[in-house]
Amino acid sequence: MKLLENKVVIITGAARGIGEGIALKLAEHGAHIAFSYVSDSSADKALALEEKLKGFGVNAKSWKTNAANFESAESFVNDVVKEFGTVDVCVNNAGISKDNLLLRMTPAQWDEVIEVNLKSVYNMTKQVIRPMMKARKGSIVNMSSIIGIRGNAGQSSYAASKAGIIGFTKSIAHELGSRNVRCNAIAPGFIETDMTHYLKEGEASKAFLEKIPLGRFGTAEEVANTTLFLASDMSSYITGQVISACGGLNI
Ligand code: NAI
Repeated sequence: MKLLENKVVIITGAARGIGEGIALKLAEHGAHIAFSYVSDSSADKALALEEKLKGFGVNAKSWKTNAANFESAESFVNDVVKEFGTVDVCVNNAGISKDNLLLRMTPAQWDEVIEVNLKSVYNMTKQVIRPMMKARKGSIVNMSSIIGIRGNAGQSSYAASKAGIIGFTKSIAHELGSRNVRCNAIAPGFIETDMTHYLKEGEASKAFLEKIPLGRFGTAEEVANTTLFLASDMSSYITGQVISACGGLNI
């Protein structure tokens, strides 16, 4: 059964990693996919992904646009509505980390992480709620992190941005529930992507694995499955929630 037949989905930062996994899974379930990437070096990957997505018989198009910039997010969403007709689902996935102990963290490092991880979620959500409110339906899925719940030494900016996403998610769920627009967050644990490749090496890897009840890192596809659930009507009575996809690391 296809869970998102003919739905229009926007995903930020989907040329690789978890975003790419989400694009593939949602397209497999019949969704048309509009996705963004930010760096020139991702352009070839984005084009290749477009072709793969079209292989599922859906429309797919990528935009090179910075989700952290308000005006860019506004024109991205306007373009998508023009080309695809509406937006049913928005997955705010784009994120970066610039880890440093607070003693050494510069204002520029702090600002960059907050802008890319948190402000982007405001930028995108503010735009997509217009078509969603008009349609009286919609699902917004925000990518938080286990670090936003537990914190971590050396990751204060990342943790603050991901905790901020949780507060934002709950507030939007309150604001838009009456319009049948749902807003939820996912808190992944350690997922194997470019962002976490360094965790797989040596002793550090063993120490991390010992803390995960399921005894392994997660995959982008596993986060994509959680996203599919929250994007689709399978979760029609769920809003303002944070679902942990972390192999039990949070217990
Ligand atoms: P990744 O680094 O592989 O992919 C992130 C994507 O976001 C890249 O394609 C990048 O180009 C894009 N991006 C970065 N800044 C952007 C901007 N300003 N505008 C548009 N796109 C931008 O990372 P990964 O692992 O796939 O992470 C995806 C999301 O999941 C992030 O929000 C991350 O914080 C979150 N997450 C990842 C975990 C992991 O273990 N990999 C754990 C918990 C959360």
